[in-house]
Amino acid sequence: MDLDPYRAPLRGGRHCILRQISREDAAAQLDLERAIVRARHGIVKHEDELPVDAAAYAEQRERAGLTAKDGSALCLAAELEGGGLVGEATLLRFKPRMVRHVGVLGIGVHPEAQGLGVGRALMERLLGWARAHRDADGGRVRRVELSVRADNARAIALYRSFGFTHEGTRRDFVRGDGGAFVDDLIMGLLLSDDAPALSDDAPAAGR
Ligand SMILES: CC(C)(COP(=O)(O)OP(=O)(O)OC[C@H]1O[C@@H](n2cnc3c(N)ncnc32)[C@H](O)[C@@H]1OP(=O)(O)O)[C@@H](O)C(=O)NCCC(=O)NCCS
Repeated sequence: MDLDPYRAPLRGGRHCILRQISREDAAAQLDLERAIVRARHGIVKHEDELPVDAAAYAEQRERAGLTAKDGSALCLAAELEGGGLVGEATLLRFKPRMVRHVGVLGIGVHPEAQGLGVGRALMERLLGWARAHRDADGGRVRRVELSVRADNARAIALYRSFGFTHEGTRRDFVRGDGGAFVDDLIMGLLLSDDAPALSDDAPAAGR
């Protein structure tokens, strides 16, 4: 399953390239995740819980099924034009056939690139793919779900703007940095039966 690179507009006249992640991105992805974890906002990890190096990072992602090429996962990178990798979004579908229509969404944008529209661009592209994709047997993604810290107002606003609704609360799910416990929200989105193609594609020139 291949998805063409896409040039997406950001605020202030800038653009980013959205493309599928490859194994060669592992070092940049790990750097990105480190920067997000260091910023201590919206995260549920400490830096020492990340893989030790790029090889371990790539291996972990492969084991999790995120590198699968059969439509069971999609991992998108966002690169600022003329810059490096500043964001990533993933959709990982459950394996058993009875729940294969469910994809779990994850997203992160570099702290220095937040607020530019990278997160919105990644969500649009990822959900566009989820709506359009069909498995060889006609199966598709019907439900996208995610979990988000209740104190992550920015992410919650972003998800709501795409139609995600609050489905439940895992009370005291996260122990915050100050020691206080923070709730975690389960949010979900059902995708309708019609399958709009990714027709607004404007493939990135020369890529
Ligand atoms: C949440 C996150 C992915 C959003 O990405 P981003 O590139 O910063 O977001 P965008 O610039 O695309 O803004 C998208 C929306 O976020 C919301 N938003 C942005 N800045 C905001 C702010 N300061 N306060 C509240 N909401 C805000 C708005 O709804 C905005 O919508 P708009 O495009 O109509 O203005 C990013 O901030 C991030 O990675 N945060 C740290 C890690 C994290 O929280 N990951 C998600 C875990 S569930």
